[in-house]
Amino acid sequence: MTYTLTTPLYYVNDRAHLGSTYTTLACDSIARFRRLQGERVTFITGCDEHGLKIQRSAEAAGLTPQAHCDAISGEYRDLWRRWGISNDRFIRTTDPRHRAIVEQFFARVEASGDVVEGRQQGWYCVACEEFKEESPAATEPHCPIHLRPLEWRDELNLFFRLSRYQEPIEQLVASDGFIAPRSRRREVENFVAGGLRDFSISRLDLPWGIPVPGYDGHTFYVWFDALLGYLSALLEPDDPADLSLLAKRGWPAQLHVIGKDILRFHAVYWPAMLLSAGLPLPEKVFGHGFLTREGQKMGKSLGNVLDPDVLLERCGTDAVRWYLLRDIPFGDDGDFQQQRFSDLVNNDLANTIGNLLNRTSSMARRWFDGGVPPAGAAATPDHPLALRCLACAQTVDGALEGLDFRTAAAAILELAEAANGFLNDRAPWKAIKAEEGRDGVAEDLYAVLETSRWVAVLLAPLLPDLSGRMLEQLAQPPLVADSGWTAARHWGKLASGLALPEPTPVMHRLELDSPL
Ligand code: MSP
Repeated sequence: MTYTLTTPLYYVNDRAHLGSTYTTLACDSIARFRRLQGERVTFITGCDEHGLKIQRSAEAAGLTPQAHCDAISGEYRDLWRRWGISNDRFIRTTDPRHRAIVEQFFARVEASGDVVEGRQQGWYCVACEEFKEESPAATEPHCPIHLRPLEWRDELNLFFRLSRYQEPIEQLVASDGFIAPRSRRREVENFVAGGLRDFSISRLDLPWGIPVPGYDGHTFYVWFDALLGYLSALLEPDDPADLSLLAKRGWPAQLHVIGKDILRFHAVYWPAMLLSAGLPLPEKVFGHGFLTREGQKMGKSLGNVLDPDVLLERCGTDAVRWYLLRDIPFGDDGDFQQQRFSDLVNNDLANTIGNLLNRTSSMARRWFDGGVPPAGAAATPDHPLALRCLACAQTVDGALEGLDFRTAAAAILELAEAANGFLNDRAPWKAIKAEEGRDGVAEDLYAVLETSRWVAVLLAPLLPDLSGRMLEQLAQPPLVADSGWTAARHWGKLASGLALPEPTPVMHRLELDSPL
């Protein structure tokens, strides 16, 4: 079976920001975790390229919509490559095969009797690409998220008969595990309990969209088209655009990871559309929180947007991944604070984890012929550090299974702290001075080096780069994605006598003397 997981498909009205980077990094860690356990994974990301918002941003840039989409989606693709994101697919909703999938899907929905014509009146937020609940009598209403004026719309559209799905959707959102974290369930349940209303799935006179077959002048509403990108993404390069292939290509998805602002689309509209088209439903929709910066909403007008390129260049992937995954409970809102960011990275990664490996391998090389000392009694699986490693691995497995990156990261850090504590208690630098202390020192250094190896192995889904550098310092081959975790998690795998390379710091301290 394939584990299919997705990020949202990002709008190409503008370049990536910290919000989209956050979702993508989290999904990358999940994908890596699953692969390391031996699962087959299809990790999907991509771009949402139609609609009024994109059309307007292309106009503002003086480009055709297609040229604008090509440029920005190319930037996304490159950015994820630079961040080392391990996505298997990158779908663009302007892909011709996607258009064919949308047409087939629409035909199914129509055949189910779920498409009707109707009049759409209401206040529309172009930035959300969504009608808002404001009263028609409202004067100059603004979008609560984007703080921009809403636009009044009154047009004849095609509607999807969402109201027919009241009962199955009620059951679905109340079911355990579909909406995560649990705290987000209530808000969707309330929305559904208020009674589901049909929603419009086409626009008149919006050229930048997929034409609705059989309805001249109509293009698909961008959300109808975009959600179907999760399906088109599963087609393999040589596949024809055929909806009936998808069961063999990994549909249904096990997990959609999204921001809390688009939960309704994923937990209500999307499953109803799938039911109408006779396709199975995704297993879980996880709505994460929003990031602010030093307590303020990030936005262009405030001039405080965190640019992923700048972050990458000045801080590197490990630092940013660690801060976002270790410090912010996944699901809650989080605040990016520069001081806390550099403190955590320096304390946890440079001092605790990096230094542990560095000083232990220096001592081992100096006193034991340039390599890993004889393990002696430290090879037994009931060594106190062996027990810690095993317990940590169990915690990490459980936490990552539940998308709790924070608990996983904290457990790995505690393991490194325990090894540091052990080293300080045993003080090999004193013991080595007496000849009869040598065997004990060998055992202790072995145990700590082996623990460092476990730290590196367990860090792999969260911080793949740092994990790789640590393994290199321990003369270990890189972990293979396919079940590499099972093979690596045996106490005593580090071979005594193995030559260790010249120690170099695996993690540099962050010295941020100006705002990012
Ligand atoms: N195109 C739609 C998704 C279609 S999925 C079929 C869309 N795109 S988006 O680019 O605007 O947003 C992508 C994601 O980024 C959303 O999940 C949104 O919640 C998230 N974030 C945007 N700003 C954010 C923060 N400041 N913090 C965290 N995530 C935020 O919506």
